[in-house]
Amino acid sequence: MYEIKNHPVDPAYAKDANLTLEQYQAWYKESLEQPDQFWAARAEQFLTWSKPWSKVNEYDFSKGEATWFKDGKLNASYNCIDRHLATRGDQVAIIWEGDDPNDDAKITYKELHEQVCRLSNALKQRGVKKGDRVCIYMPMIPEAAYAMLACTRVGAVHSVVFGGFSPESLKDRILDSDCQVLITADEGVRGGRHIPLKENADKALEHCPDVHTCLVVKRTGGDIAWHDNRDIWYHELIAQMSSDCPAQEMDSEDPMFILYTSGSTGKPKGVMHTTAGYMLGSAMTHKYILDYREGDIFWCTADVGWITGHSYIIYGPLANGATTVMFEGVPTYPDASRCWQVVDKHKVNTFYTAPTAIRALMSQGEGPVKQCSRASIRLLGTVGEPINPEAWEWYYNVVGEARCPIVDTWWQTETGSVMIAPLPGAFTLKPGSATLPFFGIEPALVDGEGNELEGATEGNLIIKRSWPSQIRSVYGDHQRCIDTYFSTYPGSYFTGDGARRDEDGYYWITGRVDDVLNVSGHRMGTAEIESALVLHKAVAEAAVVGYPHDIKGQGVYAYVTLMSGIQPSEALRKELLDVVSKEIGAIAKPDLIQWAPGLPKTRSGKIMRRILRKIAANELDTLGDTSTLADPSVVNDLIDNRANQ
Ligand code: PRX
Repeated sequence: MYEIKNHPVDPAYAKDANLTLEQYQAWYKESLEQPDQFWAARAEQFLTWSKPWSKVNEYDFSKGEATWFKDGKLNASYNCIDRHLATRGDQVAIIWEGDDPNDDAKITYKELHEQVCRLSNALKQRGVKKGDRVCIYMPMIPEAAYAMLACTRVGAVHSVVFGGFSPESLKDRILDSDCQVLITADEGVRGGRHIPLKENADKALEHCPDVHTCLVVKRTGGDIAWHDNRDIWYHELIAQMSSDCPAQEMDSEDPMFILYTSGSTGKPKGVMHTTAGYMLGSAMTHKYILDYREGDIFWCTADVGWITGHSYIIYGPLANGATTVMFEGVPTYPDASRCWQVVDKHKVNTFYTAPTAIRALMSQGEGPVKQCSRASIRLLGTVGEPINPEAWEWYYNVVGEARCPIVDTWWQTETGSVMIAPLPGAFTLKPGSATLPFFGIEPALVDGEGNELEGATEGNLIIKRSWPSQIRSVYGDHQRCIDTYFSTYPGSYFTGDGARRDEDGYYWITGRVDDVLNVSGHRMGTAEIESALVLHKAVAEAAVVGYPHDIKGQGVYAYVTLMSGIQPSEALRKELLDVVSKEIGAIAKPDLIQWAPGLPKTRSGKIMRRILRKIAANELDTLGDTSTLADPSVVNDLIDNRANQ
């Protein structure tokens, strides 16, 4: 067992930090005891309103309902751009770093304003109105940020779909929220390879007859098909538009965006966030947890297709008037020192990434890190999955040279912004622990029956009261929102995660307790992958579980039962991987496939996933009771034929 060493606050860091431990304790207490007073003051401090709210908060978890800053009026795009123009119009808002190290761009707040206004007018000209949904399927280029901010400027609800998703996934998302406009690019560029976004979009749109406009950014100039009655070059359209577009006044609770995420059952859900609470959550956590200080260069390596990119590349940093870095490429291209080259080039102060990236870089040794200075870095962050203490220490000692605190931030697409994380300079850090809750967040641990567990213990993680940036609904299916998050433990929000709490009250997230996988920080449902596999005509049944993976955190392990008479083969294995890529995207491809003549089932026919997880993880001594299985002998066969890891 790896010995975990606590890291007390470093006074050199703490002297300029935003908050002290005493302030945290006082504010946290106030946030729970006088929430209206606490949040009203923060809403005034962090956001600019065109009309004040009438009530800070009301919520009813039994109906999955929450209202924050009722009747208040504001606009997210205005808060991210316009209000900064007078004081920081010439400051760089976005530093874009291309996939090719020689490619970069700096966009000032003034330029951002002009670009977003032009696109906003273009959207309006194409008929987009307040409340309409617009799908964004883009590479990591500034136009992705313009697209999001133009949507929020005109009051449209954006649905960003990660560029790594397949045409099939894109189609499902477009149809689910009835998007009629798509913004994409001819191709993306990552690690020197071209990603055929427009070609994927064309395939998706074959099944989306209501999409009347496809705006195409010319990124590479690669060959693409063109549909005259639907496709429009982005640059041609915005060139004709005015660079002035007043922001649409929005209600606090007007929907701001939808982001699809995987759950344990069915197709991905459209998690819906609304305007004021989301903006407050992202801005406030960016300031205090990512310890934003005036003039900082802030780099979050996520893709805008995930919630991390929404909250910490775009909305949080821009609301705070920061300079945010947007990186098109991958950490290992052209070589494993790329991140640190970018840090040195742009003098990055805060670097926020996923444990999987840290582990991948760690596997390349210290050389690539040490060849760069990294002197500008002050703070390091992680997000998306549990970080193992070994990786934490490597990040701390090698990347941060033992002078930069690490903020391990726990949160979810549904929570909108960080929920449990250290305040750097205020908290003692414990490698592997996300530490303590942010202001207004009231976590608890419960057992399977919902009994709250006290003290140092382990259980299922719930949140006992509403917070501003919480999920408001599942788009088009509010009942699913109630069933998924608010029914398991009535009166509380259920996170789907397990956690341990230590004697200091620190939380250690242990991972999902449902059938959701976290592969390289990407969330996916086992049910989605199983549904894809059984589409292949040779497959009778499939069961997918996660298993520990050195770099990815979790790998995808698929047990596949073939139709009788079909023989397994390498060719078939490849076909199955292709089906998953086609249906979901390459990120969901199983790492291992085991041909399973039978699956362990109860007498009522339910697959015993617990046993499958144990076999995949090679934890054969703790399989548990198998005597209740309809046919216990299948377990021996599965053990004898485990897939190689
Ligand atoms: O299991 C938790 C894990 O990621 C899940 C949320 O995934 P997603 O909605 O895609 O959002 C990821 C980025 C916010 C959680 O239920 N997770 C996220 N952050 C951490 C984490 N697990 C452990 N430690 C974290 N810091």
